[in-house]
Amino acid sequence: MSGRTQTRRPWRASRNPVLRAALLGVTVALLLALPASGYGKTDARSSAKKSQLEVFSWWTGGGEAHGLQALIKIWNKQHPGTPFKNETVAGGAGSNAKAVLAQRLAAHKPPDSFQGHAGAELLDYIKAGQVESIDFIYKKYGFNKIMPAQLIKQITYKGHLYSVPVNIHRANILWYNPATLRKAEISGAPKSWSEFISDLKKAKDAKLIPLAVGEQWTQKHLLETVMIATLGPSGWASLWKKGGNWNGAGVKTALNRYKELLAYTNSDSASLTWQDASKLVADGKAAFNIMGDWADGYFRVDLKKKPSSGYNWAAVPGTNGVYDWLSDSFTLAKGAPHRAAAVQWLGFLGSKKAQDTFNPLKGSIPARKDANPKLYDTYLKWALKQWKSDKLAGSLTHGVVASNAWNTDIDTALGLFLQNKNVGNFQSALVSAAKKRSGT
Ligand code: GAL
Repeated sequence: MSGRTQTRRPWRASRNPVLRAALLGVTVALLLALPASGYGKTDARSSAKKSQLEVFSWWTGGGEAHGLQALIKIWNKQHPGTPFKNETVAGGAGSNAKAVLAQRLAAHKPPDSFQGHAGAELLDYIKAGQVESIDFIYKKYGFNKIMPAQLIKQITYKGHLYSVPVNIHRANILWYNPATLRKAEISGAPKSWSEFISDLKKAKDAKLIPLAVGEQWTQKHLLETVMIATLGPSGWASLWKKGGNWNGAGVKTALNRYKELLAYTNSDSASLTWQDASKLVADGKAAFNIMGDWADGYFRVDLKKKPSSGYNWAAVPGTNGVYDWLSDSFTLAKGAPHRAAAVQWLGFLGSKKAQDTFNPLKGSIPARKDANPKLYDTYLKWALKQWKSDKLAGSLTHGVVASNAWNTDIDTALGLFLQNKNVGNFQSALVSAAKKRSGT
């Protein structure tokens, strides 16, 4: 079935980062050697005529794919003459997909529609002229009245709208397995920093992995939640503006806390995906994991765990009442080979039916304000309420507050820090990155 067609991803076969990067490079080169539609060169014109819909995302694995597959099923039923071509590149947080996409866009071989986070990440594509404004879609379906104003702001540039958000995810969640905590004599989710550290010590004494982490982006995700906990949502927001105080005592405290946390994490992190790290919690091998609420989809839909008893959650200590948010949105690529199909897809994606089908499986709340709460399981019912009352903090790891270039500079600084654990150098590198990138 065309809905199951996936970009082959040989680099997943290797956990050696160097080999993986090389394989990724080869794959990108192969992809670029093909026309965007994936057909041989001589077929280029006929393939562009052939009706299909090419959608690019990184939703392949556990906790990621079910929601998309459900949408594909509806799409293919409603558009039998325009099959869905699922162009996915595996790797959490788009760690591989974004590189492949950048190369395709630079080579003018775009898919019809691609995943881009609302906020600074989307702005990159807008400024590079790689996406079309879709005001006409918003006008036709009235999406701007049905989606929250804060979200609409993050997909608008110079008065024009550029993507359709399918969801809102929350990044600052502490996941745990109640049975494991009982075994380690931890009384429940820690609320403060000091409680957290004392619970991590208890977990260590009980011979558990205190805090499970995976590959580097998951450790950046962890860092952002510690920074938000330490600086508060307004201190965090100020860092991303011109002249943000990266040199200050607040950032230093956060980085020292982060270093302290890393001492309680697993040493094989680099070779683990986010799902691997979350599974350590589900399997009772680790006490805690800090991850976005796509983990709810993974625990509940993939691992068939029961909310509250099989897995449980709380805001990351120090972030109660703060929603570290992000939103997956889809664009209309400039030069889309099947533009009309992409326009229909975006209209569908913003519909109540699509959002109430996708989100209960994905572990996210809908971008639309008129969701039917009955369709959402325990965690998501809680999230729907929290979204209404919490203060908002935009995610760094998932594209809201900083451009791809700024993120890359932070990744480089973090990569070094994870090796040498030198807080002073790390902070200086973050200061330089902010000087170079803020306001760009
Ligand atoms: C985020 C994305 C989520 C989820 C996660 C893990 O960047 O917004 O939908 O896929 O990465 O891959």
